[in-house]
Amino acid sequence: MRWYHILLLAVLQIAGLLVFCLGFFPSKVVLKGFGEFDNGNYDPQFNKIVFMVVDALRSDFIFSEDSSMLYVQSLLREGSALGFTAYSNPPTVTLPRLKGITTGSTPNFLDAVLNVVEEDSSSTLANQDSWITQLKKADKRIHMYGDDTWIKLFPSVFDEVDGTGSFFVSDFTEVDNNVTRHLDHELSEQSWDCLILHYLGLDHIGHKGGPKSIFMSPKQREMDSIVEKIHSKLDDDTLMVLLGDHGMNDIGNHGGSSAGETSAGLVFISNKLRKLNSNAKVPLPKNEDFKFLTKVQQIDLVPTISNLLRLPIPRNNLGIMIKEFLPLWSADQQLNLMKENLKNYENLKGEVTNLEDINMIYDFLINSQSGLTQSATNYLTDKMLCGIVMLIFSSLFVLLYLYNTVQLYSIWFYSLNILYGITMFGSSFVEEEYQIWWWFATFFIVFLCYGRPSNLLYILFLIRLVRGWNNTGQKYIGDTIFQYLQEHPFINWLLVFLTISVYGFSLNNGAFSLFSPLLSFLISFLLSITCFTFKLLFSLANGDEIPKELVGLAAFTMESLGVDNAQDSLIDLARMFYYMVLAVLVLRLGLKFKSYDYWFFTDLHNLLSFVLIFQTSLQNIPLFLVFLGIKHQVGLVSGNSMGLKKSNRISFVSLFCLILQHLSFFSLGQSNSLATVDLSNAYNGISGYNILAVGVLTFISNFSTPIFWSFGSLSILFENKEKLAPIKYEVLKTRWLVSTSFYTIGTTFTLIACYALRYHLFIWTVFSPKLLYTLAWNLLMNGLVEILCLLLTILH
Ligand SMILES: *[C@@H]1O[C@H](CO)[C@@H](O)[C@H](O)[C@H]1NC(C)=O
Repeated sequence: MRWYHILLLAVLQIAGLLVFCLGFFPSKVVLKGFGEFDNGNYDPQFNKIVFMVVDALRSDFIFSEDSSMLYVQSLLREGSALGFTAYSNPPTVTLPRLKGITTGSTPNFLDAVLNVVEEDSSSTLANQDSWITQLKKADKRIHMYGDDTWIKLFPSVFDEVDGTGSFFVSDFTEVDNNVTRHLDHELSEQSWDCLILHYLGLDHIGHKGGPKSIFMSPKQREMDSIVEKIHSKLDDDTLMVLLGDHGMNDIGNHGGSSAGETSAGLVFISNKLRKLNSNAKVPLPKNEDFKFLTKVQQIDLVPTISNLLRLPIPRNNLGIMIKEFLPLWSADQQLNLMKENLKNYENLKGEVTNLEDINMIYDFLINSQSGLTQSATNYLTDKMLCGIVMLIFSSLFVLLYLYNTVQLYSIWFYSLNILYGITMFGSSFVEEEYQIWWWFATFFIVFLCYGRPSNLLYILFLIRLVRGWNNTGQKYIGDTIFQYLQEHPFINWLLVFLTISVYGFSLNNGAFSLFSPLLSFLISFLLSITCFTFKLLFSLANGDEIPKELVGLAAFTMESLGVDNAQDSLIDLARMFYYMVLAVLVLRLGLKFKSYDYWFFTDLHNLLSFVLIFQTSLQNIPLFLVFLGIKHQVGLVSGNSMGLKKSNRISFVSLFCLILQHLSFFSLGQSNSLATVDLSNAYNGISGYNILAVGVLTFISNFSTPIFWSFGSLSILFENKEKLAPIKYEVLKTRWLVSTSFYTIGTTFTLIACYALRYHLFIWTVFSPKLLYTLAWNLLMNGLVEILCLLLTILH
């Protein structure tokens, strides 16, 4: 195979995948034009509205007995407020949710990705109907303060506006103070008809510290006092709505479809609602399903707001007027306004029913709703098929090539790739992918260590530790090492200290010590201590408990940096660390050219490990210690067992590291759901708006362990003392073969599964995120990281 064959194959593979995605994530069909009244023969209940979004306000944050929102609860008890648990459609990310909350339709999946990327113009609602545009058409004045996603969605709609950036999830206070500081003025003048507030602090606390963070309760109290402040200033003709755009899961992230993420709180507040005599018995005991009071669809608030303010219902709305509010109107008027909702559905379905009875209208709407939310997507099947054909071609190409280079281990490639591919067709398999890799790893090790029982037991034990670090599937929820470390900070810090020291010692033992022992010691010591203190101050700034033995070190560091709280020291420390890494890297490459070839990959790998540890959450750091054990053992076993031929040895190590890349990815707590994308380390050392740097850091922190094993295989292969030059190209070729065959064949199966199951119930919750992860693995791990490895090997 020639180099241009390889290039062609890579291009074919990436292009096929991208073409498929264009067909799979098309922009959504929406009906053009704006909703109008059929006759609109009913009275408005309110003429103004305050719409207060608290990002990630999960239902239990308002209604449960752990909630600190006592004022809202007192309103619910006395009947001045009506509360609901609102089901928010996945993907549970702010941008698609805001679209749902304003237009009443279900989102386009790609919105979720664009929300993370933050820069897009394709997602405005300028030409789509929503209750905001309806207000504007009725010449109402709208003021908006908070998350600037609103401004992106509705450019030039707001009469007064001050957006806050959602970019820095580490900011808990400024994002909210920038909203609150406008309140006094806005509440005394009341020169608006609609006031939109979007508070981000609570979501940021979730991303950083989870729902049980020590900052959560004070933040809820703050939000509660804001509700009190607003409510006390409003007259009876103004409606206030308090809601979360989505919820959060147990670790404070969101994006997926678990109960916590989809259960948002929703409260309508006005003294006028006392007429409805609904006196909720809050606070309620906590429950697993996050179901409190009545459950509604979040988009139901769209026709409800339209009717309460007497506005035409938005054209693409799929929400249903919330029944509890109907008694505010007389029986005739109730029928009239429900007919508006009915007409809106008839337009979407293209059928006329002429129903004249409220209960029958409700039956019709409820029966139609789920069907309409499902069918609102249209795929471009020719693009999808085109992508699949391109990938099938590249798969055949790879399979033929594998067939021609018959090796003992080709059989492993075939079975691994095909087995993995087949599992893509089961939604449970996709959710439980962790288990699949655990079985692959176990079988492979048993095979590898044939005849070496002590190594076998040792590696199996270590792999079992890796497996037990986190749970990511839906089915096996049990105790994990991660939780244990969370509950025992002392042991956690001890292990972190040990891990960082061990990597420090290894670096100290590398080529630097041949060059100058003093320099070597300084480099290793400074890197270790900076990494460790950063982690310490990071925890302190997050309000986590740290062992008292370390308090002195933290205080000393802050004093030396001349700052008085931990938060202020983080950016300086992180930059110091990264500059040091850069300097050491340059130095090591320099030594290389003075022909210190020895330990080249090991040194680079140790240095890289520091970066990966730096970007990993505290409880996961000791994983890297376990990895070191596994790496050492694999080096031993593959080096001298079974009289392995050299080329077989290379295949073995490459394949094993590929398996470990995937296993360890899930052991970090990652999964095939957007909800596990971890942002807590994405801002280390960043102070300005720098999307590239945040992107790189997000990638490194979410893929830290796969990156470790990707470089790890090079370090294992080149560590032993045989002459390197002859095996260099052999290593390159085999590595390429292993990863290309896996990614090509795996991706082909994934695409076929997504195509075949495109009308499956779980297509948006399970298969689409999986496709995005496939894209990330292909472009970033098999693309970017492999290319880096390739360049380094050539350099060697
Ligand atoms: C808060 O407002 C100030 C002054 O307008 C601005 O400089 C700052 O960037 C704002 N903060 C955020 C998070 O938007």
